Formats: sequence, structure tokens, C-alpha cells
Amino acid sequence: MTSRIAVLVSGRGSNLQALLDAIAGGRLDAEIVGVFSDRPDAAALQRVAEPQRWSADARGFPDRNAFDAALGDALAACAPDWIFCAGYMRILGEAFVRRFEGRVLNVHPSLLPRYKGLHTHARALRAGDAEHGASVHFVVPELDSGAVIAQVRIPVLPGDTADTLAERLLPQEHRLVTEVMALAASGRLAERDGQVQLDGQTLFKPLLLDSTGVLDPGSRG
Ligand code: GRF
Repeated sequence: MTSRIAVLVSGRGSNLQALLDAIAGGRLDAEIVGVFSDRPDAAALQRVAEPQRWSADARGFPDRNAFDAALGDALAACAPDWIFCAGYMRILGEAFVRRFEGRVLNVHPSLLPRYKGLHTHARALRAGDAEHGASVHFVVPELDSGAVIAQVRIPVLPGDTADTLAERLLPQEHRLVTEVMALAASGRLAERDGQVQLDGQTLFKPLLLDSTGVLDPGSRG
């Protein structure tokens, strides 16, 4: 049974495109059953055909819960196995997270738990970090705080700016996202009691995407 993935977007959609390319290339046994956005003008929506698009301007709703309820109803209609937040810039409220508990994943451009929230590349530079990276984690009501499934690390190079760091990280994010969604689509991934389960075993530290593209239990602390 092909895994059904719904994707939430707000902007360019390069992570969505990475999933679409992986499916087309036979590297991900899944189907994108819908792309959902809080921004009707999000470029990401144009990466799928019109029947797969749903968007609503969040400003047209009285509050966060009302928007999340409309989004949730549209999502439920697609019966997704997984919901992947790919550059989705709104915070998902508690009711939404509980409604889809254990099925919502997010890619965040930092080595969580460092730098939750925005401007992660600039913050890593300002801190003088030798490494930066991206994380894919389960979504919980608290921002960027769910159990981390996997990470990819890149070095911070002399002269890096937030833009050069983001630019170098993005292709690695795409690899990470593709590998994690392949684990999810193959039924090997679950969230239990706030922890990641891989093949029924609790992961006590994130998997690490190495240079060969293999997700290994993190070999470093
Ligand atoms: C990516 O860096 C992702 O980590 C962050 O949003 C950025 C844009 O993603 N959440 P995309 O190109 O819209 O997929």
C-alpha cells in the first residue's frame, strides 16, 4: 500500500520538490496526496496539479484554531498517512497537533535543540558554531520541540554568511527529508511517548545522514 503524504508549504517548496523528484525517481514509495498552504500565492503550490492544491488566506479566519480546523478538515479528506511541513511558516495549534498526533513531521534548518524558531543560520554564525545543519522532527504543540528523528551536519566555513550557509545546507536538507520520508513511508517510523521509534526500538539520539546518504544512529554525541 503506497504511503500517502500530505505536504504543508508557505513558500518556494524546494523540499516538496525533493519529495516529488524522489517519487518520480523511484527513491520514495509514496504519493503526494495534497499540498496545503496558508498562502494562496505560495510558489510551492505550482509544483503540483490544481486538484492536489488547497490554500486559504489565514487572515480570512477569526483565529488560529479556526484556520487550523479548516486546514485539518481539508487534510483529513485526503486521508494522509503522514503530514510533512516543508517550509510551512505558521505555528500549528494544539488541537491540530492532537488531531494528527504522531503523523506530523517538520524539517527545521538547525541542529535541534539549538536555534528553535527563525533566523537559524545567522544565529549559528553569531554563536561561532563550527557546524550547522538541519533536523527532521515530530511536531508537538511547542515550537520545534518534538522528538528529532534525523539530522544532517555541515561545516561552517570561513567567510560564511547566513545566505551562503543556507544555500549550502538546502541540498542536504533535501537529502535528509527524502531519507526520513522513505523511513516513514516504509512503516519503520513511529512516535511513542514523545520518543522516536525506529523498527520498534526507541531512538535515544537522532539518526545522522552521512556523506553516502545513509541514515545511521548518530555516531557522535
Ligand atoms: C527550508 O530551509 C526549511 O528548512 C525551512 O524553510 C526553508 C524553505 O523550505 N523550514 P522550502 O524551500 O520552501 O521547502
